[in-house]
Formats: sequence, C-alpha cells, structure tokens
Amino acid sequence: MISPPCTMSKLRFAIFGTGFWSRFQLAAWRELEGAECVALFNRTRARAEALAKEFGVAAVYDDAAKLLANEKTDFVDIITDVGTHAEFVALAARHRLPVICQKPMGRTLAEARGMVDVCRRAGVPFFVHENWRWQAPIRAFKEVLASGRLGRIIRGRIDYAHSFPVFDNQPFLKELDQFILTDIGTHILDVARFLWGEAGTLYCQTRRIHPDIKGEDVATVMMRMTDGVTVTANMSYASRWEFDLFPETFLYVEGSEGGASLGADCTLRVFTKAGAEERRVEPKHYAWADPAYALIHSSIVECNRNLFSALRGEGTAETTGADNLKTLELVFAAYDSAASGKAITFR
Ligand SMILES: NC(=O)c1ccc[n+]([C@@H]2O[C@H](COP(=O)([O-])OP(=O)(O)OC[C@H]3O[C@@H](n4cnc5c(N)ncnc54)[C@H](O)[C@@H]3O)[C@@H](O)[C@H]2O)c1
Repeated sequence: MISPPCTMSKLRFAIFGTGFWSRFQLAAWRELEGAECVALFNRTRARAEALAKEFGVAAVYDDAAKLLANEKTDFVDIITDVGTHAEFVALAARHRLPVICQKPMGRTLAEARGMVDVCRRAGVPFFVHENWRWQAPIRAFKEVLASGRLGRIIRGRIDYAHSFPVFDNQPFLKELDQFILTDIGTHILDVARFLWGEAGTLYCQTRRIHPDIKGEDVATVMMRMTDGVTVTANMSYASRWEFDLFPETFLYVEGSEGGASLGADCTLRVFTKAGAEERRVEPKHYAWADPAYALIHSSIVECNRNLFSALRGEGTAETTGADNLKTLELVFAAYDSAASGKAITFR
C-alpha cells in the first residue's frame, strides 16, 4: 500500500472533466491552502482551455495518458460523467496516483466493485466525492441525533422533493435509463447511512412523471436499519411543494424522548419534554457559488477538506471507495426491489 503523501507542502493535482460541475469543484479546491490544480483534461479541449484561462491553470490536455506522463501530480480528481469513471480511475491507479471520483462511482455495482479493487490492488487511496452529508444543516442534525437527547430512536425520514428544472443544466440526465436513484439517490441514501447506520432490509417503489426522460424521476425507499430504526427516503424531481426550496433536504426523526426536524430555510427544530428550540443553520456562503446551488457548493469545500486531510496523511476520509460501495448497494438494491416488488434483505 502506498502511503498517502504526508507533508505540509502543496499537493498538486489534475482534474479530468471540465463540464458543468468542475468550475465549482475547482473554486472549492481554491478555498483550501495547499491544494494546487496544475492541469486540466477534457475530451473537448476548448472547454478545458476556457476553464484554465478563468482559473489560471497552467496546462491543458485532451489526452489523459499524456497529462499523467508529462505532469507531476499527487492525485487526480475525476469529474467526467459516470460512463468514464472506471476507465479514468484505472488509469490513475496504473500511475500509482491517489484518486477522487465524483458520484455515482460507477454505472453498476459490479463496475464500482471493480474500481475499488483496482485501487486496492495498486495500493492507491480511492475516494468518492460524496459531498451531500457535508452540508452544514445535515451535520447539525447529526449532532442532535448523537447527543442522545431524543432517547431511543424509532423512525427517521428524508424528503428531497422538488420541481427544479435539473435537466436545464444537466441535459444528459434525461438520457439515463436509471435516473433519480443513481443521481440524487446516491446522495440521499448516503445521508441515510450517515445518520442512521446500515440497512438490514430495503423496499422501493419508483415512477416516471416527466414524459420526456428515460429513467425514473420519483423514488420511495423504506429501510429497516440494523438497529431496528425505520427510515423512509422520498425523492422526486417532479413534485411541486409549498416549500419548493431546491436543493434543500428535509429531515425528520422521532425518538422516545423527543424529536427533531430540518425544514425550510435550513431550520433545525428540536423538541423534548423540556420544550422546543429552533435555529437556522446557515451554510457558509462563497462568492463563487451559484445562488441556486449555494447550499451544495459550500458542502463541496467541506468534502474536499476531509479528503485532502486524508491525502496529506493528517485525517481519515469518510467517503472512501469502500465505504461508498455500501451506499451503491442500497441504490442498486432499490432498483431490484422496484423491479421485483419485493423487499431486499442484506444481512
Ligand atoms: N456532487 C454533486 O452534487 C454533483 C453535482 C453535479 C454533478 N456531479 C457529478 O459530476 C460528474 C460530471 O457531471 P457534470 O454535470 O459536470 O457533467 P458534464 O457533462 O457537464 O461534464 C462532464 C465533462 O466530462 C467530459 N468528458 C466526458 N467523457 C470524457 C472522456 N471520455 N474524456 C474526456 N472528457 C470527457 C465532457 O466533455 C464534459 O466536459 C458526474 O459524475 C455527476 O454526477 C456531482
């Protein structure tokens, strides 16, 4: 196993894929001292050149192998679409470079397992950029759960239901045969694991409401976690709510001694016998963030911070490839359950 670089000096990295999400990822990296993007690679060179010019990145390539041969890098950050993740992770592993990959890790569970295996055999650290759990309001909700104030936890719920036109910025999402569970379900089911641990059983129903897309845009997942807590995750890109506050995730928990909710405008409410308290958990605002995604963009910085500390040998990464496989197991079990109409038992 190659040890991650343990140094306070800069870590140099390359970004593969300079589309919609990459500018926010690059801006978020610039919030961290010691992270230096030295090269960009994209299939369409002009896109990489434009981003390099805007962010002052020295080198641009339309050939990933050439980039890795020419540039001295400490890790690779992959932000291409899912169909290319396995190929580029394997390439980085062959160059013995630690690698970060956007969600969803792979197109299938088998592909994702292969990616984790390739990095394990090459002895390189492999991380999935799973940023949703790093949102400040979700971390605050987790602190309430961990405090024990709510007593024995009985039931949890996650609602992510919006009418936001997500296909405007990411038209490729219309073409996915498997849409909401692979796109947002990877985030939401990861949050379920982050808050309530691993699932023992899972049942799912899906629907397609938009007439012009290939995959499902509504999914309802019900899980019994291994400690007995029942968790429901409701996801939709077709629902119009009174509080249609994309991209907020609403959370609820019932316990024997009280409950908590994370609701509109990042409002965290906790109620116990002692009474109720309410506060807004404001995410940090960055000037480069798109106002429509500001909550998520601030979570990229925290996710990068966590992965960067592991790359420098200073901390432990939460979302390793191996950990993220457990999230993907839920995603693909959800499809199996929706297709068969039966619950899936894991362990
Ligand atoms: N964490 C989040 O909240 C979040 C949000 C949006 C997107 N993402 C993820 O980021 C990734 C990219 O999404 P996006 O919206 O930026 O997509 P995009 O289509 O806008 O960008 C992908 C880029 O990769 C390039 N590319 C694709 N195949 C390539 C190849 N074979 N060689 C070189 N370049 C190639 C494309 O030219 C394009 O510039 C996806 O995995 C997506 O799920 C994550």
